[in-house]
Amino acid sequence: MNRIQRVAVVGAGTMGRGIAQVVAQAGIVVTLIDREPELVRASLEEIRRQLDRAVERGRLDREQAAVALSLIALDTDLQAVADADLVIEAVPEVVELKQDVFRRLDQYAAPEALLASNTSSISITLLAAATQRPGQVIGLHFFNPVPVMKLVEVVRGLRTGDQAVEAAVEFAQRLGKTPVVVNDSPGFVSNRVLVPMINEAIYALMEGVAPAEAIDTVLRLGANHPMGPLELADLIGLDVVLHILEVLHHDLGDPKYRPCPLLRQMVAAGKLGRKSGEGFYRYQE
Ligand SMILES: NC(=O)c1ccc[n+]([C@@H]2O[C@H](COP(=O)([O-])OP(=O)(O)OC[C@H]3O[C@@H](n4cnc5c(N)ncnc54)[C@H](O)[C@@H]3O)[C@@H](O)[C@H]2O)c1
Repeated sequence: MNRIQRVAVVGAGTMGRGIAQVVAQAGIVVTLIDREPELVRASLEEIRRQLDRAVERGRLDREQAAVALSLIALDTDLQAVADADLVIEAVPEVVELKQDVFRRLDQYAAPEALLASNTSSISITLLAAATQRPGQVIGLHFFNPVPVMKLVEVVRGLRTGDQAVEAAVEFAQRLGKTPVVVNDSPGFVSNRVLVPMINEAIYALMEGVAPAEAIDTVLRLGANHPMGPLELADLIGLDVVLHILEVLHHDLGDPKYRPCPLLRQMVAAGKLGRKSGEGFYRYQE
């Protein structure tokens, strides 16, 4: 597999624009694709703001920021993936939507191109089965915020080839990230371990073991976690936490993953965490 020279990112939301930014900062040409011209333009503006902030904080010089911006092209047509060596899909976490995108990427991308998904919970093996090139389909699970978080979970689907894994690992390293290769399984490693811990903290709260602040303090000071599990749930979004638990519960079939009733109730009440202004804690505008 040749070195990756050109990348396309499909979906210019929170994750897609972060990924496009770190790819461009690594000196790699990248095309950022979304459905509407306003969406891609707004994403580029956000990337520009992030790069300006990095310059102000002395993490990047002006010239590097300008070069990174010049490497990003925008498009609204999926066919713009035609010259990419690697396509990274970052559309919303909906199985049918991702399968449809992979089916079309398989048609438009060069035959030797790698197709990657940034999914946090959907099976890479399932997405690969929507294509005629399952050996070249892989998971590249970046973390939010992408420019800050060091980890990339490189997810090997059942039919992913060794060359694809090697190319993905080398690519993540070029971005300055630390790739960790894991096998395709619900929640991979990150969410398989993290989200049940959050769920357990919510059970402890519901059962009155301790109030939210106490539970978070125990994990921060007792386990050296930078954030307590309930603060972290508010940051991730309680709807997202619930969705991941439902995937773990359904796909692994083990009752130990059953979502806490308090979590369901809070999501039903619109208490989604920071983004709605209230979760386990209240947030000011
Ligand atoms: N947000 C996170 O913290 C996080 C962390 C890790 C992984 N992920 C995963 O990353 C993926 C994207 O999440 P996000 O938070 O960036 O979502 P988002 O909603 O912010 O962005 C998704 C973007 O995809 C675009 N889109 C939808 N359909 C499209 C199509 N057919 N073609 C092109 N673009 C299309 C939307 O217009 C939107 O701009 C999901 O699979 C999510 O599970 C998210």
